[in-house]
Amino acid sequence: MALPNTLMEYPCVEHCLGGVSHFEDVPQWIYDLDNPYLHGAYAPTLDEMSVDNLEVSGELPADLVGGYFRNGPNPVYQPKNRQHPFDGDGMVHGVYFRDGKASYRNRYVQTAALLQERADGKSISPGVMGPFDYSISQFGIKDTSNTDVLWFAGDIMTLWYNAGHPYRLDSQTLETKDFYELQGRDTLRMSAHSKVDWNTGELLFFDYGDEPPFMTYGVADASGKLQHEVAIDLPGPRLPHDMGFTTNYAILHDLPFFHDMEVLRRHKYRVLTFHTDIPTRFGIIPRRGQSSDIRWFECQPCYILHATNCWEEGDWVVMDGCRSLNPMPDVLPGEGDLASMLAYMRLEANVYRWRFNMKTGEVREGDIDDLNTEFNKSNPIFHGVKSKYGYHQRIPLLHEGGYTLRFTGLVKYNNDTGQRDQWDYGAGVFGSEAVFAPKVGADRTSAEDDGYVITLVTDSNTWQSDCLVFDATDIAQGPIARVRMPHRVPFGFHAAWARGEDLYR
Ligand SMILES: [Fe+2]
Repeated sequence: MALPNTLMEYPCVEHCLGGVSHFEDVPQWIYDLDNPYLHGAYAPTLDEMSVDNLEVSGELPADLVGGYFRNGPNPVYQPKNRQHPFDGDGMVHGVYFRDGKASYRNRYVQTAALLQERADGKSISPGVMGPFDYSISQFGIKDTSNTDVLWFAGDIMTLWYNAGHPYRLDSQTLETKDFYELQGRDTLRMSAHSKVDWNTGELLFFDYGDEPPFMTYGVADASGKLQHEVAIDLPGPRLPHDMGFTTNYAILHDLPFFHDMEVLRRHKYRVLTFHTDIPTRFGIIPRRGQSSDIRWFECQPCYILHATNCWEEGDWVVMDGCRSLNPMPDVLPGEGDLASMLAYMRLEANVYRWRFNMKTGEVREGDIDDLNTEFNKSNPIFHGVKSKYGYHQRIPLLHEGGYTLRFTGLVKYNNDTGQRDQWDYGAGVFGSEAVFAPKVGADRTSAEDDGYVITLVTDSNTWQSDCLVFDATDIAQGPIARVRMPHRVPFGFHAAWARGEDLYR
């Protein structure tokens, strides 16, 4: 089939997963752009579908009841400027499991920015690669809500990596209701990777920005009512990505990978620098503590996207996560004005453990394993208390073929021993962030890995997408069930599991 290309060649795209492929369901302007994050595995779909009784190979377990929700970028309109994956309009894909059957639904997050663009029929806001324009949006760029997704207080919440406005989606229809406002909070801003504590139902949230206070931290109760919010004193604007919590504490990140405000003010571009002379700091604050209660621990300079879990052991607070020593890899020649974005997206990270002594201030830290993995998740029932298992995505480095960010396999770690079990998705098949789905009725007396691990994969050889269900105790045997999706699911960011006890209440 002839490609509808208007470009003569695509030097950057040809290294992306799936190359320049012809799709009917994409906005056809993608073929005017040589940007690998708009093609092949990353090509957006404009189609929104609702399909029940999906074809299943293998058997869906009767005690797998709930929903897998995954967010990701799906740009509708041709960007005004250079396109970054964080700029694509958010779309949530939901796979619902009940009675051994599965349904699928996907919907755009109807953000304020997207509604405005739909009204105008064109792109309005600049994206992450600037130039920033604060006359269009308070963020200077487009708040796409495309990064994270949470189940909280009966609805789906979508969030953007840059601490945008959270959106509230109906969990059954995935229709956008409104902003996800917390009762009693007078601002909306909230970062991706704010956390729901399954044990208490609370939302522990944070936000950050370029004006003081550079970070806030807060808690809402299980009904969405604000209980607590404090300003966190940081030395300047930062770009933290995640937070953690234990039974008694929240753990906040001050990472030495940030931008120069003078450059942003003067040139309207946000240029990130990794400051190897500035320590990484973790601020441990009682969950309802005041700013003055926070204790900062200095660690080796690094960047962290995602923590796996945190807990207390006597005087120690322990945090497992993935650490990056090189958050801005060198740019490659010939990539023109996309070079920095392409380098930034080549994630280099490995699983790591930090220990902080609340009595003495001592820090102990070290690698658990050196394999390049990220998008690490764990059993949410055990969030805040001791756990050992993490479920990561294998990410090939550039020299292993990782020109663009791609998830090529599922890796289960025992973080106490460093032992890993792995299942590769297959040649040309890319995965999504995997979630742990506890069995119906599971609690903290259940074995930590007594449940399922669920991900969405797309085969770039056929463009068939499947939802895979693994027995979490035996990842290496491959999926125990495979649910055929009714259409191609593009590459995406984060996913969440909603328990059937909550979702089908
Ligand atoms: Fe993230």
